[in-house]
Amino acid sequence: MIDKIISVIARREFGRALNFDDNLNMQLPQSPDNNPRLLYLHIPFCEELCPYCSFHRILFSEKLCRDYFEALFREILLYKEKGYNFGAIYVGGGTPTILIDELARLIVFAKELFPVRQISVETNPNHLTPENLTILREAGVNRLSCGVQTFQDKLLKKICRLDKYGSGIEIAHKLRNTKNVFETLNVDLIFNFPGQTMEMVADDLAILKKLQMDQITFYPLMVSDFSRKEMTTNLGEFSSVMEKRMYKFISHSLHTEYETSSAWCFSRKSNNSAMLDEYVVDYDEYAGLGSGSIGYLNGVCYANTFDIAEYIRLLNDGRLPRMASRIFSHNDRMRYDFMMKLFSTRMNLKIMQDKYDGKFSNVLWKEIIALKLAGALRYFHPDLYLTKRGRYYWVIIMREFFTAVNNFRDHCRKSSEK
Ligand SMILES: C[S@@+](CC[C@H](N)C(=O)[O-])C[C@H]1O[C@@H](n2cnc3c(N)ncnc32)[C@H](O)[C@@H]1O
Ligand code: SF4
Repeated sequence: MIDKIISVIARREFGRALNFDDNLNMQLPQSPDNNPRLLYLHIPFCEELCPYCSFHRILFSEKLCRDYFEALFREILLYKEKGYNFGAIYVGGGTPTILIDELARLIVFAKELFPVRQISVETNPNHLTPENLTILREAGVNRLSCGVQTFQDKLLKKICRLDKYGSGIEIAHKLRNTKNVFETLNVDLIFNFPGQTMEMVADDLAILKKLQMDQITFYPLMVSDFSRKEMTTNLGEFSSVMEKRMYKFISHSLHTEYETSSAWCFSRKSNNSAMLDEYVVDYDEYAGLGSGSIGYLNGVCYANTFDIAEYIRLLNDGRLPRMASRIFSHNDRMRYDFMMKLFSTRMNLKIMQDKYDGKFSNVLWKEIIALKLAGALRYFHPDLYLTKRGRYYWVIIMREFFTAVNNFRDHCRKSSEK
């Protein structure tokens, strides 16, 4: 019952928060300070389009992709001209390693402009070749995140990844050869696919433990409103009962060797300083560059155009490729911080009080008390932290958050197709 209530409230609130205004706040203001922020770069090209994925991605075409990288260089320069400073880069997709020479050039270019210390890149198993790994390491990548989803061939076939990315055994072999090349090797898996059984999840976990992966991000399947029909036709019905059971099983089976870096990201105890897939947890503010990127800077959340040709055209004209934005009120900002910080499973209340001139608890006391009464939160000075139960509530909250982001993406994609 509580799970359902949390899910309904979260869906309503995120739907409201992501109700962006078109064509407002399209300017990039001068950076208010020299603090290092996170630079997110989106590469939306893929060799195959997986049926469950609601990220912004299109089928690869080399000419368009090369023009796209050129535009991305120009967009980075616009941020540099406005005085922004970046200490970390996250290159996500799509498939960022699709043109490895362009990616390496992009990273080196950004490193020449900013004092970057952490670089995380997403990839797919077929790109874990010795040549690619050398190029990425020499470019300074510290964290590589590989999308696996599952090691079960039957399921890989169903989600259309078996032919392109190889069988479970082949993927495991590639991961073994990639170990210790980077500070952190993360693998992305998904639980609660329709038709995925507890035995399949148990087998995935056994393989992961044998591989001794540095970091495991185990996402709950997220279905946007627009993709729901296609997804249920292709894959089957989504079950929230299975989601809870599987999550408990995953956390329980990883807890001796792994620590929770977020509600669904598990880092090996010896590697817990690693960067996360959810860079939104580690960085209060991030610039989103590339087509379809979402950024959060100076209390403004904004999205870039999803139309790739328009993205390139605007940057060729020296213009910012933004299509929509929303100014967060002071209370929205506090709620956003509350949700993101607690996603990392603990939040320093004193830092939040200082950040918001002592007003943080005054605004959020109802949420804090309700979550404490529900057994989701505990307080040990100066931290609020999630209990086991709270961690699952945060899976629901963040699933709804990313679903709202996916709905927003679908909405933007549909309007750019008009
Ligand atoms: C967007 S992909 C980008 C990197 C790469 N192309 C890949 O497939 O891993 C990053 C990860 O997002 C996760 N993901 C994609 N669609 C999802 C969905 N509908 N629900 C949950 N996780 C999803 C997958 O685990 C995937 O590995
Ligand atoms: S899951 Fe990865 S490879 Fe598949 S479509 Fe999405 S971004 Fe592309």
